Amino acid sequence: MSLLIKSGEIVTASERYAADIFCENETITRIGRRITPPRGAVVIDAKGKFVFPGFIDPHVHIYLPFMGTFAKDTYETASRAALVGGTTTLIEMCCPSRKEDALEGFELWMSKAAGKSACDFTFHMGVTKFDGAAEKQLREIVRRGISSFKIFLAYKGAFGVDDGELYRTLKLAKELGVIVTAHCENETLIAERQAELLAAGKTDSAQHHESRPPAVEAEGVHHLMSFAEATGAETYIVHLSCREALDQAIAARQRGVRVSIETLIQYLTLDKSFAARSKFEGAKYVMSPPLRDKGNQAILWNGLRDGLIQTVATDHCPFDFKAQKVMGKNDFTKIPNGIPALEDRVNLLYTYGVKAGKIDLHTFVNCASTRAAKTFDLFPRKGTIQIGADADLVVFDPKYRGKISARTQQTNVDYNAFEGWKIEGRPAAVTVRGQVAVRDGKFIGKIGHGKFLARKPAHF
Ligand code: URP
Ligand code: ZN
Ligand code: ZN
Repeated sequence: MSLLIKSGEIVTASERYAADIFCENETITRIGRRITPPRGAVVIDAKGKFVFPGFIDPHVHIYLPFMGTFAKDTYETASRAALVGGTTTLIEMCCPSRKEDALEGFELWMSKAAGKSACDFTFHMGVTKFDGAAEKQLREIVRRGISSFKIFLAYKGAFGVDDGELYRTLKLAKELGVIVTAHCENETLIAERQAELLAAGKTDSAQHHESRPPAVEAEGVHHLMSFAEATGAETYIVHLSCREALDQAIAARQRGVRVSIETLIQYLTLDKSFAARSKFEGAKYVMSPPLRDKGNQAILWNGLRDGLIQTVATDHCPFDFKAQKVMGKNDFTKIPNGIPALEDRVNLLYTYGVKAGKIDLHTFVNCASTRAAKTFDLFPRKGTIQIGADADLVVFDPKYRGKISARTQQTNVDYNAFEGWKIEGRPAAVTVRGQVAVRDGKFIGKIGHGKFLARKPAHF
């Protein structure tokens, strides 16, 4: 099947120009003016619209046993959500518990995805324990096409590693040329503060922030940076939320530590007052690190604009409000952490970033697609529009006006943290390797079309 995207304005991380795009055999084969389609080609009229490379969400949870429950999405619901929102590739965190083997975990996560996704996918391999057996298995997992690890400095006993394991994981990553993504918070400080707050009768959702203030995250970043400096490993800080943590990462970068920084659309648009909403509404906004003081938003937007922060992800964590968040009604430490946003990331970033004048179109494409492709060994197959790249394209209508609502979403959750928020622009058409997956907000793709993207550590 061939596909022609006609008369659109192509925008990549570095270029902006008017042209047609012709795709065959899943890839872009021609870019030029007035391309005549062969008989039978699918033609999409992109006049008056932008054409972006397919967006990449580098931090997603779909299958996730966590805090005594399971995240709600499946690959079917999550990939539909991703595509309707313009995300054509997602990177899921493969998170076996400390009790499970890494290889068994990898195979389990793969079995949840293979043949069940409409968009392309790959994994960051969670290293939740490190011993001789784990090391052997991690080497095998890298051979099977995984070039990034994930470690947690928080959640000890579940996913968290100790300092010896952290050191050895980073050494192995350095040897293999694997990049290590990391959740940075000091677990001991969290545990102490949680116990103090609960003992004082402070149990509501607003206390989540008090148990994990910026210093807790900044210490986690400093900790990781010290270990990265000692080992020379390449690192990627996931979900950075505040100035104090950013300062630590930038200071490390200035002394030569190899570190990329991810923030989330939630930190750019929401603040801690949401998590303090009454009648337990605040639970919808509990995630870790927590939503911060509003003043941090300008720091994060400026960080994106100035290139200090590289990517915008979601840490999509689909837990229902009624049956799951409610587990923490009388104890904020039991509220399953996370705010789903896979479906809304691109539209929010465009509306509240580009349209609001905080970032330009090229920064938008870079931090929502290109940079993740480069960092995680997917570029130039993904993350740009050029001959030979996969035909993952987003025809984006900047004139669309609408509102976000849980009633119309694809993701399998009973609420949306952005309920009623205005959106200015959305994908009019989305393609995955040349197959049309979305038209005018409707999913028309095929479950099972999504492929596992095997990666090699190319950036070493
Ligand atoms: O609140 C969050 N971020 N929950 C999901 C687990 C994680 O930290 O990635
Ligand atoms: Zn995390
Ligand atoms: Zn996460």
